[in-house]
Amino acid sequence: MDTKTAFNQHVTQWNNDQDAPWGQLRYKIGLANLEEWLEKRPLTILDLGGGNAYDAIPLAKLGHQLTVIDFSEEMLENGARYAVSNDVANKTTFIQSDVDSFSEKINGQSFDAILCHNLLQYLNYPLKTLKAIHEHLNPNGIFSLMITNPHSETFTQALRNLDFDAALETTGKKTHQVTTFKVTINRYDESELRAMLKTTGFTFQKLYGVRAICDYINDNDIKHNPEEFKKLVALEMTLRDKLPYTLLSRFYHFISTKS
Ligand SMILES: C[S@@+](CC[C@H](N)C(=O)[O-])C[C@H]1O[C@@H](n2cnc3c(N)ncnc32)[C@H](O)[C@@H]1O
Repeated sequence: MDTKTAFNQHVTQWNNDQDAPWGQLRYKIGLANLEEWLEKRPLTILDLGGGNAYDAIPLAKLGHQLTVIDFSEEMLENGARYAVSNDVANKTTFIQSDVDSFSEKINGQSFDAILCHNLLQYLNYPLKTLKAIHEHLNPNGIFSLMITNPHSETFTQALRNLDFDAALETTGKKTHQVTTFKVTINRYDESELRAMLKTTGFTFQKLYGVRAICDYINDNDIKHNPEEFKKLVALEMTLRDKLPYTLLSRFYHFISTKS
């Protein structure tokens, strides 16, 4: 199955994952990190590989103008419905395109901020996409890159699944099979990502971590308990910009600028 079909066919599982406590944490922390960098005035923001717009809609609700690009029609339709139910249809534009050709679809438009959240690991030519993002960012614009941390898979196998053989196998691997979409992704560690950002001309500003604790707890019931979840959110919010937690989290979240 090609990657686009895999995304089109798994929107329901994706929605379930997004609405679960760990999904809620991912979007809450992502938004909190971004709010530290985005000016309060209305900005133009491109969400590349933005899927069903779970990052885009809260930003539109803050008054920003969002363009969401994705190659999956199902994801975009889901996002467009979500925009309507949140009263931000007038602040969101959905464009169907592969990232390799998105420039042609936006007629040279540039943006105050560009998000690329959990997209880069699926691409064959990540540097090509980073270069295109750089070209479409306004001077001093914000680039938000979120991507899976390969080290978190080792911790997950060892601590959560108690599978030490599987944990050992994850070390040094350059690819990984994603359970939700059943496709293979590339794995880049923090230093490789920093080098890629530098090569494409971005100025690194800050690294956050998204979910330093949640993924290593096997007991999902505690996460579904509203009182305990509130405490977990407070803990994750405190750890998200502190070493060593940023380097152990499920996702790296890099903020860079175009200077
Ligand atoms: C893991 S989802 C992340 C969605 C969203 N950024 C988020 O974090 O909620 C990856 C998204 O990238 C899209 N995608 C993957 N490869 C793509 C490509 N070559 N061109 C355009 N979109 C792509 C998928 O359709 C999917 O919506």
